[in-house]
Amino acid sequence: MRNGIGVTVVLGVMAVLGIAGRAGAADDAAAVDLLAYDWSHLDGAVVAADGVRVSGLGRAIVPPADMADTPPTANPPINLRGPVLTLAGDFALTARLRLGTDGPPQARLTLYGRLPVIQDEWRQPGEAVTLAVKGDMLRLVVQHVSGERETYTQAWRPADSVTLALVRRGERLTLSANGEPMIAMPAPPVLASKRLWPGLDTDVGHTFTLESLRLRPLGEAARVAVTPATLVSTPPAPGGLRALAARNAPHLAIGTAVATNPLLGDPAYARVLAREFSMVTPENAMKFQFIHPRPGRYAFAEADAIVDFAEHNGMAVHGHTLAWGEALPRWLSRGDYSDGELREILADHIATVVGRYKGRVAGWDVVNEPLEPFGPELRRDSPWYRAMGADYIAFALRAAHRADPDAALYINEFACEERNAKSDALYRLARGLLADGVPLDGIGFQLHEDLTDDYRPVTAAAFRDNVRRFIDLGLAVRISEMDVNLHDDASTARLQQQAAYYASMLALARDIPAFTAFSTWGFTDRYSSLQDWWNPDGLGNGLIFDPALRAKPAYDALRRVLAR
Ligand code: XIL
Repeated sequence: MRNGIGVTVVLGVMAVLGIAGRAGAADDAAAVDLLAYDWSHLDGAVVAADGVRVSGLGRAIVPPADMADTPPTANPPINLRGPVLTLAGDFALTARLRLGTDGPPQARLTLYGRLPVIQDEWRQPGEAVTLAVKGDMLRLVVQHVSGERETYTQAWRPADSVTLALVRRGERLTLSANGEPMIAMPAPPVLASKRLWPGLDTDVGHTFTLESLRLRPLGEAARVAVTPATLVSTPPAPGGLRALAARNAPHLAIGTAVATNPLLGDPAYARVLAREFSMVTPENAMKFQFIHPRPGRYAFAEADAIVDFAEHNGMAVHGHTLAWGEALPRWLSRGDYSDGELREILADHIATVVGRYKGRVAGWDVVNEPLEPFGPELRRDSPWYRAMGADYIAFALRAAHRADPDAALYINEFACEERNAKSDALYRLARGLLADGVPLDGIGFQLHEDLTDDYRPVTAAAFRDNVRRFIDLGLAVRISEMDVNLHDDASTARLQQQAAYYASMLALARDIPAFTAFSTWGFTDRYSSLQDWWNPDGLGNGLIFDPALRAKPAYDALRRVLAR
């Protein structure tokens, strides 16, 4: 019998593989101990001698300002660097919980089969099953990809500890508490996913400890396998973008925004990333609402994963972003803080985040989008502006410089690529900061563009004409977030036009040594902020790899630019 053995296999990286199969039903020796895997990269959790202690972070996606009445969407942490489960046939998953004594008990354990797609304004929920204790109720919740949720609830008598067992037998899934059956339902399809990732969570103000978590197969035919998650590490593709740039345009990093869930959950995504790009920008993981979800409490796991991945693969990291008026948690945007307290909060935030990645993050978008969307005025609708007026910009740059004197500090802005009232204002802002001796190293030009019949994107010539004056101030410049939205028209003609457009901008950056990076805002249409939030199939088609990670004409056009 191969019961609960640990085998060491070598797959480029050392991995410990827990396999259990063909166990006698009651034979706990057949169980895999899931707490023996890594739980140290789970936000809100601390690994202690008595188990994994969880306290609620309230991590949530806050809707943008024009949807102020919409409540935030919970975005609980997932253990993407811990055990990955595969279940074939019947199984029992047993969790012993010590429940907090701070109010009615609350604990949630979720198994995700399909990871949520996270944007900072919305979230496709993925597919998961959750066991929850909430006061005097036990719950089983099935989250379907469609967004629908099924919830099964049963009253219980709360106790300080409880052993919950999730058992699948054939078509049936049951939840029992301390051996007593509580809920039964048809087994949801998510449990047949190739890989399942666990997550732990509770509400803000609550704590619990997961004292044990064991998985065992039930019956002859059943198999459960548990593997530790690993970070992909792949060398650059010899003829790929990153290798060509290293050879022919060494001043230029080839960058992209990166989303954490596909990075850790979709190896094909991670491989293309490492093969083709030399720099990553965390798309959302370093934004305030995610990395600083409670006053004074930081959640670094996702940003850490991106930085670790970049290091494994010899890539640089560009940090995004420190002082911005969006993606702010409600404790901050709706908190009743004095101007002095807000200064303190920003100073602490920058010192903590930049300090943590000192020497590992090459540059920062210290200030993001300081100007009104289409005008020359500074945006006033941020706590930072309210507390400090225009001075918040210098304040943030100085704080970042103190935390990491070697990091290159940027202001990042959109709709400033050509000469217009907004780029004039950005130019005056930069010139003024430099005149005051503020540590500003460069400007990021986002370059979010559309290609449709009734929209004329900025031309490379107009961009070249405008960027010159910033370079003449002694500043570095970067293309920071390029995408070329085709909406739903992915016709051959459009894809060719998109390719030519991408190429024109890269050629500009290739020929001007002050450009430090050419960075796109994601690389595959599968995970792109241009997707419709209400429809995973509404793609936008704005990036250089298609949803199946096949190179689009734009990719080939970029290669040709770099091959010269
Ligand atoms: C976008 C993210 O890509 C999305 O996931 C999110 O829903 C909205 O924000 N300018 C920026 C980026 O500086 O942070 C924005 O990122 C895109 C526009």
